[in-house]
Amino acid sequence: MKIFNSPDRISVEINRIRLGKKRIGFVPTMGALHAGHLSLIKQAAKENNTVVVSIFVNPAQFGPKEDLKKYPRPIKKDLELCRKAGVDFIFLPGNKIMYPQGYSTFVNVEGLNEVLCGSARPGHFRGVTTVVAKLLNIVRPDALYLGQKDAQQALIIARMVKDLNFPVKVKVMPTIRENDGLALSSRNAYLSKKERNDAVVLSKALLLAQTLIDNGQRQANRIITRIKQLISKKRSARIDYVSIVDLENLMPLKKIKPGCLIALAVKIGKTRLIDNIIINEKA
Ligand code: PAF
Repeated sequence: MKIFNSPDRISVEINRIRLGKKRIGFVPTMGALHAGHLSLIKQAAKENNTVVVSIFVNPAQFGPKEDLKKYPRPIKKDLELCRKAGVDFIFLPGNKIMYPQGYSTFVNVEGLNEVLCGSARPGHFRGVTTVVAKLLNIVRPDALYLGQKDAQQALIIARMVKDLNFPVKVKVMPTIRENDGLALSSRNAYLSKKERNDAVVLSKALLLAQTLIDNGQRQANRIITRIKQLISKKRSARIDYVSIVDLENLMPLKKIKPGCLIALAVKIGKTRLIDNIIINEKA
């Protein structure tokens, strides 16, 4: 496994791979890797000859009051996990390489970035699309692997890829969960034992929604009310949003339809967690 800190260095290797007509699969991350990331790496390895992982805690996607400083950075462990998972190249740039003095270009996917997490975290998705655009230009992969847990992020990146004609296929892989249903997230590490137990209410609420729909409920507001009631039973939980939206444009739906997205963001103690499900065809 080769580790690169500079775009120029990794570019030389990428050119070599591309000349050999080998497929490149790319998994962008902010480190603190877990089984969710590893499933993306595994899929990338299955479908490509070369797997590139980037590890970069991107300051541009954190708000001034967010957890940039305390975001976990277990770099040794991350590198070991990548090595074991068969990653070929790691791109591990520093802030100054990604955003040198005078840096002033940002990519903004309008509309989609203003709703759901976008309204609670202004500027967040602008930071995400900016860094992913840069990473795609540096790594030039054939396929980009993202997790469904960050459904809005995946949709926004897919929109950017389409709108800006990036020659890459976006692959969105299923959310990986703990045995009790909690969606894996690097931020789960912030939870106390009690909060960790409470956090399972997010996935329980989504399961409840699926059950209500399976039993014939189609009114979005009724389902949202039941979800909110369930989550509010946990004293540590503060709901940011519970929304039922069209997966194409993230606009709120009054009635459930197949393929719609139920998404929620909840603060458990001080930790903001997100989760979602796509309602299956049965609906
Ligand atoms: O999902 C993440 O870890 C980040 O938002 C990403 C896509 C690596 C961009 O910094």
